[in-house]
Amino acid sequence: MDLKQYINERCQLVDRELDRLMPREEDLPGSLHRSMRYSSFAGGKRIRPILLLAACEAVGGDQSLGLTAAAAMEMIHTYSLVHDDLPAMDNDDFRRGNPTNHKVFGEAVAILAGDALLTQAFIALSSPRLSASVPAGVLLEVIHEFAVSAGSKGMVGGQVVDMESEGRHDIDLPTVQFIHIHKTGALIKSSVKSGALLGGASEDQLGALVRYGEAIGLAFQIADDILDIEGTTEELGKDAGSDQARGKATYPAVVGIEESRHRCAELLEMALQALEGFDHRAEPLREIARYVVARKS
Ligand code: IPE
Ligand code: IPE
Ligand code: MG
Ligand code: MG
Ligand code: MG
Repeated sequence: MDLKQYINERCQLVDRELDRLMPREEDLPGSLHRSMRYSSFAGGKRIRPILLLAACEAVGGDQSLGLTAAAAMEMIHTYSLVHDDLPAMDNDDFRRGNPTNHKVFGEAVAILAGDALLTQAFIALSSPRLSASVPAGVLLEVIHEFAVSAGSKGMVGGQVVDMESEGRHDIDLPTVQFIHIHKTGALIKSSVKSGALLGGASEDQLGALVRYGEAIGLAFQIADDILDIEGTTEELGKDAGSDQARGKATYPAVVGIEESRHRCAELLEMALQALEGFDHRAEPLREIARYVVARKS
């Protein structure tokens, strides 16, 4: 299959849905809505929404039922990036090939745009339009999954340990693993799981897809750590070398770059093994897993 074409097609669907769900720039307050849209349409890879759609497809579900949840996941991810870049956090100047949100709109609006993006995701998920097409029990499970993965025992929890570990020399592997599984793995796993739920997965399929999501979620952040060292700001569209400059707890910092690469390869194998019972409809998930560890940006 042609992964590039697959990603491009789904990116367009996700972008259109995001545009439909996001407040207009003309709606008051204009600065807030411009800021929300600025970061949302700055050229992200859309990996999480694409995973959600691909998981739905892998269990034979109707992808159109996953589209709103896919866009909602991208809103939560975009909020996490806007806050991650703030001076009080990673203090970065570039994101998605552009100046970071707070550089353009100021810190106060950037914080509030993040808050509003997170909230907008749940406005979209709980919309009457979606409850008219998705069974209430399934939708509630998806909303719960989104909330848990974004919250204090998910992404936000991981970000806190990431901050608290900065500049320390006594960070061990279990701590870095905790950070990565939470700050990045949680939303990725939850994207896959939610796609599976919306697609009508069986219990066995759900278990397998959760294992797949956990493996690529961790691999995604290890690859991000490696790219922060080996990539350029131009390639990445965000500040390269930022982790070392801030003394971040990363896989390469704790186990070295070769072992980090080895771990990525192992996680790819685990992800592919989890998909063994699936047919050709899981091919996009297999290709995305390979892409996650081989990507250059
Ligand atoms: C960046 O995520 C933050 C991490 C969790 C590593 P992505 O690499 O998916 O960023 P975008 O969405 O493509 O900008
Ligand atoms: C990202 O970790 C985690 C988030 C929840 C946004 P990083 O701080 O490594 O992400 P980048 O490298 O800035 O995209
Ligand atoms: Mg960070
Ligand atoms: Mg960062
Ligand atoms: Mg990084």
